[in-house]
Amino acid sequence: MSAHYLAGKPVLVTGGAGFIGSQLVSDLLAIGAEVVVIDNESRGSKSNLEDVNFGIRDNKNYFKVDLRDPDAQRYFKDIHTVYHLAADVGGIAYALSQGIQIWKNNTLIDANVFEAVLKHQVPNLVYASSSCVYPLNLSSPDRALQESHAWQGEMHTLYGGEKLLGEKAIRMHLQGSHPTNTAVVRFHNVYGPRSIMKGRNAQVIQALISRALNHPSKNLEVWGSGQQGRDFIHVSDITHWLVNLWLPTTNSLPQDPIQRGSGINTQIREIAQHIINILELNIEIDFLPVPDEGERGRKSDNSKFDALYPHLPQPLPIQEGIRRYIDWVLEHETFWKEKISEASNRAAFPCLTR
Ligand SMILES: NC(=O)c1ccc[n+]([C@@H]2O[C@H](COP(=O)([O-])OP(=O)(O)OC[C@H]3O[C@@H](n4cnc5c(N)ncnc54)[C@H](O)[C@@H]3O)[C@@H](O)[C@H]2O)c1
Repeated sequence: MSAHYLAGKPVLVTGGAGFIGSQLVSDLLAIGAEVVVIDNESRGSKSNLEDVNFGIRDNKNYFKVDLRDPDAQRYFKDIHTVYHLAADVGGIAYALSQGIQIWKNNTLIDANVFEAVLKHQVPNLVYASSSCVYPLNLSSPDRALQESHAWQGEMHTLYGGEKLLGEKAIRMHLQGSHPTNTAVVRFHNVYGPRSIMKGRNAQVIQALISRALNHPSKNLEVWGSGQQGRDFIHVSDITHWLVNLWLPTTNSLPQDPIQRGSGINTQIREIAQHIINILELNIEIDFLPVPDEGERGRKSDNSKFDALYPHLPQPLPIQEGIRRYIDWVLEHETFWKEKISEASNRAAFPCLTR
């Protein structure tokens, strides 16, 4: 078998100690890349990297550095490919309440990274964008979002607006600026191992699993009718794609922004029911009234992805993805366990007692 394109190459993952970043580091190590990580540990942690067997050598392959600092640009020297994942990230409540801070942080990070890539003539830059670039009025449970829908309406959050400007900056100032090749990849809602599960920064699948594990005999509380939906995709589907981003026909990166989702709008009530079933809990779902349920649903049109990457596997079905995630979570109690918890008794989970 021929070696992977990135085998033996110095590859920098910004935000590599985070949720998606640590899984990407793991996948890059598996194909023989020489991985370097920059992270300020504001949300990520070294333990994520230890969990994927990244042999951390402080100040050699791991740098605890703030990418808002212009001095961070020196770490981009002699790098072959940058996967730029570092960003101020959180759930929708965080994005709506902390818009200015997120916008400021992510603008500073992106501008600094793009300047560093240009200055050091890094050959390849992959930019992690988001389905939050799509306008709210085009989101629907029934109509699939296409890549071209970005810019076609009012932005929902400054987080999404900043990602869109990041994409624009790449198109205007980096794309085609030899020798840098660029790719803009938009993820829908990613879930899976090592994502934050507790506190207001947790995203919905993570938060529901944590709640079910910490309070296994209490009904599972869902905000609103539970009919709100999103397009959920398992982290392994994202990172497997990122490592295999170069198009097999031309060996180049895709020219235009491209999204990755499951193509399915899954309602929160379905997620909650999968979790209850997988954990074999004898509880029900309580729907708590909220004044405004926000976005009704969202799903990705995968036709562009399928045309460019017919050789990559179809996304994991949500039930299987959640099952695998829960298996991992049960092995990693520090991620979900609250200090005083009913869950200290493992017998609370029938699925664990066999
Ligand atoms: N998780 C999702 O559902 C999702 C969806 C769409 C896009 N994305 C994008 O994917 C990327 C990774 O997201 P994630 O879910 O793994 O989040 P994450 O918070 O786990 O990872 C981001 C990492 O960046 C680091 N970071 C933040 N500010 C930094 C700074 N100033 N300097 C250096 N490092 C800094 C954090 O410590 C963290 O480890 C982000 O760019 C995010 O916008 C994520």
